[in-house]
Amino acid sequence: MARSLFIRTNIRTNQIKKLKEQGTIGFLQASLASICLALFLMPQAASAQTELDFNYFKNEVQPIFLAKREGNVRCVQCHNRTSNLRLQPLEDGQMFWTDEQSRSNFESASQLVLPGEDPLMSRFLTHPLSVDAGGDPFHGGGKHFHSQFDPEWQIMADWVAGATERRTPSGTVIRIVQTNAAGDNSTIIDPVTNEVVGQITDIEIPHGVVGSPDGSQIYITNEAMHSLDIVDSRTLRVKRRIHVSGRPNNVSVTSDGRKVYVAIMEMPGAIDVIDVEKMENVKTIATEGAIHNVYVTPDSRYAVGGSVHTSFISVIDTATDELAWTLEMSSGVRPMTFNTNPDGSTKNIFVQLSGFHGFAVVDFDKREEVTRVEHPAVPGEEAHFDGLQGAPAHGLGVSPDGKTLWSTSKVYSHAYIHSLPDLKEIGRVFVGQHPEWVTFTPDGSRAYIGAAGDHVTYSVDTATMKTIARIPVGQVPKRLATVQMAVD
Ligand code: HEC
Repeated sequence: MARSLFIRTNIRTNQIKKLKEQGTIGFLQASLASICLALFLMPQAASAQTELDFNYFKNEVQPIFLAKREGNVRCVQCHNRTSNLRLQPLEDGQMFWTDEQSRSNFESASQLVLPGEDPLMSRFLTHPLSVDAGGDPFHGGGKHFHSQFDPEWQIMADWVAGATERRTPSGTVIRIVQTNAAGDNSTIIDPVTNEVVGQITDIEIPHGVVGSPDGSQIYITNEAMHSLDIVDSRTLRVKRRIHVSGRPNNVSVTSDGRKVYVAIMEMPGAIDVIDVEKMENVKTIATEGAIHNVYVTPDSRYAVGGSVHTSFISVIDTATDELAWTLEMSSGVRPMTFNTNPDGSTKNIFVQLSGFHGFAVVDFDKREEVTRVEHPAVPGEEAHFDGLQGAPAHGLGVSPDGKTLWSTSKVYSHAYIHSLPDLKEIGRVFVGQHPEWVTFTPDGSRAYIGAAGDHVTYSVDTATMKTIARIPVGQVPKRLATVQMAVD
């Protein structure tokens, strides 16, 4: 208490000094201002009762201390020894503070704020804020936020104002998130304009990507750190990293948003289950071999994983998170996708396989392969066999209306489009070198395909089957997803 009173006076004097220096006010006015400020502050003794919320601090404010902002050093790098803002050091490999450590961080930061008062009176908020934006003149750790509208600064300011949860977003927008497999970033595309509208940084070797159904966050598997990274849709910063049991590949989410399944691409093989509310890895389910891709079926009843190593498909019941059944294919299992029965249950799994230029069809109820479709050569198109990594066809998607199946070929740089359910090829479109993955806008009007060899994402008009844009992204774009993103 003594300390916050000290800060209060200090800030007040400093602010008046600043106004004087700027020549905004003269001496007499300064004295008057002093009195007015004092009077102004008095009734606010009542607002000193504003409670600072611990959970909000823990889950929303603390990630800001860990986040990498371009050109800045993470707060946590300096603040376990510097000044009165003392953050608990993290052990090697520790990705977030324990509750006890969070409590200490909370106590420390609480000393540097005036709850419920003008945010520009809290040192915690003015120190990292640019002078132009209302910040104080100097912070040994530099200026991290250049506007009071910066979403991270707002999270901090809301905490000081007594918030117990995030402010309600003004709405959600549809975005395509393209991960760049040889990059440290993922690119965000607006499918209306086909322009790049943002970047998710600070995740090296981002692999799989999927959005939470409510638009609040995006899940990206991090192959460098062996974690599932939760990205806040509004700040575009990593909000939490959760350890997974081995090197992760692809990722999927249930339609209620509660569970995320992560493919573990290491023998003997597993799928990890992340509880979104607890932000914890709650189960590692043993599978038949290392898992490359995992998909939650459209009805959310199963999570289906495929193994490149053992050629097995492992099907997990999402009600129990136990292995329900397995099926051995003729070679390594690559991308998969599903179509559904009229009641929404899964009808077929379409499966791309190692060394096969096409896809196989598995009847979900019969649990057996029923047919195969091989893609013919594209006349006049030079065949590529270099760097295929055993997967000549890698990328499958069923359009939202369930009427077409798109399959991409790295050999012939095309997407082959088939009608469903009869599986007749109805068209082809050139989609660049090493096309890797397919996603559709929710209305099905556009398909997006990452062309790994060209460092661009293709946008294809699905009705005309023609390319409408080649959007430059990062290094070696592979997985991509259509997501909802909340906006302030
Ligand atoms: C490069 C190291 C560094 C980084 C990064 C850094 N700070 Fe600092 N910070 C300092 C130093 C040094 C001081 C003490 C000197 C001063 O007051 O500027 C300080 C002081 C502060 C203070 C005042 C503490 C007091 O004793 O009154 C606050 C609040 C603060 N920093 C917040 C932050 C926040 C929030 C971040 C991240 C957004 C951050 N800092 C990042 C070095 C750093």
